[in-house]
Amino acid sequence: MINLDGVSYYYGEENVLSNISLKIKENERAVLLGSNGSGKSTMLKILNGLIYPQKGKYTFNGKGITKKFISDKTNNKNFRSEVVLLFQNPDMMIFNPTVYDEIAFGLKQLGYDNIDDKVKYWANRLNIFNYLDTPPYNLSGGEKQKVCLASILVLEPKVLLLDEPTAHIDPRTTGWFVDFFYELNLTTIVATNNISLAMELGERGIVLSENHQLIYDGGLEQLLDDKESLLKANLIHKHKHKHNGLEHKHYHIHYWD
Ligand SMILES: Nc1ncnc2c1ncn2[C@@H]1O[C@H](COP(=O)(O)OP(=O)(O)O)[C@@H](O)[C@H]1O
Ligand SMILES: [Mg+2]
Repeated sequence: MINLDGVSYYYGEENVLSNISLKIKENERAVLLGSNGSGKSTMLKILNGLIYPQKGKYTFNGKGITKKFISDKTNNKNFRSEVVLLFQNPDMMIFNPTVYDEIAFGLKQLGYDNIDDKVKYWANRLNIFNYLDTPPYNLSGGEKQKVCLASILVLEPKVLLLDEPTAHIDPRTTGWFVDFFYELNLTTIVATNNISLAMELGERGIVLSENHQLIYDGGLEQLLDDKESLLKANLIHKHKHKHNGLEHKHYHIHYWD
């Protein structure tokens, strides 16, 4: 379904993705791991067709996702409905006067019918029905996240890309999110630097190193045993400290998602 072949990306001179090749099959649940600045968000933007690799190729269901491809109206409509991205910061996505308008926006832009039914269905599923007339900027972080999720799921996508989805929500909403996510029947790629959460969000781990290379692609459980890759990706660190007056060394997982 998704195929990245030797993809590199540069911001000016700075290389932020280096020769990445991977394939993702339909209904796979992948977790994209890497420390801050490793290139996770950049990769999701490429997969969402917001930016295009300067080297290598991205194909989705056999079609090369290029600027030219997306500039065609029908391709744009199909691709924008099939592959959706939840940005890390919900405030980046929200700009409509009401929750209703926010959820309906993509459907209107892409020219869909039965907008009202679809908006209400997803508002209901995400427990934000009572907020449909509310301005989204009045909502809490967790509720904004739900509005953003509704606004992309309403397009009935095939692939859901999530960029650090729990970075702006409290622990209770995170628990809700994990359960909700589990019920979705989609191909998903979730970027996070939180290994403990990763296990809840997929079976396959894809790890970017600090020098923007793919250093691990395989089972998440095996990854947790692969201390070398985790250290290299700066997902765990080693330090000394004292328990009951006895100094010892061990690995720590970062929880700062
Ligand atoms: N719009 C941009 N312009 C220039 N550099 C950027 C831009 N966005 C990200 N970068 C740089 O690209 C690198 C990778 O960023 P990003 O993909 O956001 O990593 P991550 O999501 O893993 O934290 C970082 O060094 C970041 O500073
Ligand atoms: Mg990021």
